[in-house]
Amino acid sequence: MLIRPRRLRENKILRELAAETKVSAKALVYPVFIREGANIEEAVPSLPGQSRYSPDRLPVIIEKTLKAGVNSVLLFGIPEHKDETGKAAYAENGVVQQGIREIKRRFPEIHVITDVCLCEYTSHGHCGVVNSGAVDNDATLPLLAKTALSHMYAGADMAAPSDMMDGRVAAIREALDANGFANKPIMSYSAKYSSAFYGPFREAAGSAPSFGDRKGYQMDYRNKREAVKEALLDIEEGADIVMVKPAMAYLDVISMIRQAVSVPVAAYSVSGEYAMIKAAGKEGLIDEESAFCELAAGIFRAGADILITYNALELAGWIKEGRI
Ligand code: PBG
Repeated sequence: MLIRPRRLRENKILRELAAETKVSAKALVYPVFIREGANIEEAVPSLPGQSRYSPDRLPVIIEKTLKAGVNSVLLFGIPEHKDETGKAAYAENGVVQQGIREIKRRFPEIHVITDVCLCEYTSHGHCGVVNSGAVDNDATLPLLAKTALSHMYAGADMAAPSDMMDGRVAAIREALDANGFANKPIMSYSAKYSSAFYGPFREAAGSAPSFGDRKGYQMDYRNKREAVKEALLDIEEGADIVMVKPAMAYLDVISMIRQAVSVPVAAYSVSGEYAMIKAAGKEGLIDEESAFCELAAGIFRAGADILITYNALELAGWIKEGRI
């Protein structure tokens, strides 16, 4: 008797029934860029199809997000003024803080996650405070805690530290607990690699480091045991969700972390992954939509529970149409 795996592939309904990976819009998070100013929606050249919004224009994109069936956004801020210690990151009336208030006033039901980092706010573009030419881990921790706390006061639902300083999850957890936010979870960028795939984001946020690189704090892409170590440490410090970033070149890391931890695992399909597929699609080199569907399914198949992607709204539409 011949064993026939093909039997399950021949009929569409059966294929759907038997699919090992089922993708849902409920598992998607949409990143949103907020810039200072009023009445601004400007296209981001490095991320075709994405825009920067002034706080007052956020309701437009939030409404579209909810309509698409995506219930979570991840907010990034682009301040007017940058300085040595990134004060605009934790200013009560900072651009993200304004944005959160505006969003929550109009759409209290949307789940607002905030990226917690200093790189968009520092004049040197590093993710922490710079002392004698190097990023000072411990001096950065209280500023990250202040940033996360200010987001919570503005009404955020979850903090997502992306700076890769050691001990930042514990510092943020302590600050939230001490100020009445014990119920607010932390999604930690646990395995965040030093990656060329962040290029278009840095263009969008104006956050490329002015000297050196991020190799002193972001992970070395040759390592994956270290990713498990980072994830376990973050969980010990109080992370509720751990994240792997980027996604496309790191599916093995997603898979390994999935097996090593019992908290939900998020994957961030970053700006370079998005821009690359967009560019190839525009050139007619690949079918953009099919490629995005395949990439999303691959990330979930690797073990992600949550997918953060610039493609979230379109993906939600394709899921609805039964394309994945
Ligand atoms: C901030 C941050 C970055 C990204 C997310 N948070 C930039 C960086 O680390 O350089 C990148 C996201 C993307 O490329 O889509 N530290």
